[in-house]
Amino acid sequence: MNDNIILIGFMGSGKTTIGKRLAKLLEYSFVDTDQLIEKKQGMMVRDIFSQKGERYFRQLETDTISEMVQTCHKTIISSGGGLPLRECNVKILQELGFVIMLDVSKETVIKRLEGDTTRPLLQGDNVDEKVEELLTYREPLYELAAHMKVPVNGRTIQDIAEEIIRNYQTVRNGQHPFDVEDRKEAENE
Ligand code: S3P
Repeated sequence: MNDNIILIGFMGSGKTTIGKRLAKLLEYSFVDTDQLIEKKQGMMVRDIFSQKGERYFRQLETDTISEMVQTCHKTIISSGGGLPLRECNVKILQELGFVIMLDVSKETVIKRLEGDTTRPLLQGDNVDEKVEELLTYREPLYELAAHMKVPVNGRTIQDIAEEIIRNYQTVRNGQHPFDVEDRKEAENE
């Protein structure tokens, strides 16, 4: 398995926030697929959706993670919420490294994304229904794509990040030298 951690999950599940904390704790790099795409295209995701269409955006996602297989090492990858829905992407994600699903409830998503204007799929009326419908459809697909599922509702970022690191280290069979507890002790000395 490649030495990257990939966070997947619904919009508002905390992929970027938790990803940045993981990167800090592990001293890994951090990348966000949406940010990479925006940088390359010189456009915001919502403008890519409105001007070029969702299909075009989905292909950019596939192209982006395909390139990452060659270039990413010791990196935390935060992926767009729709990325694991394409079967071909799931294969690439698993090739990239340890895939974690951040498991979030509808209520948490709605609370966190209230007033958000950046997610084209959640604009307009009936946001509750949109979230419900998308989550119901996507959850089993996220589960299929992930090596592990981590609940996020009501938990701190640190708590979630530490659980992920513990599991990542176990999966890597102790090959990874970093230990969170050792690091904490070292910092306190
Ligand atoms: C999408 C999620 C967004 C972004 C785009 C589509 C989705 O990313 O890629 O708006 O289909 O769930 P985040 O999950 O980072 O919000």
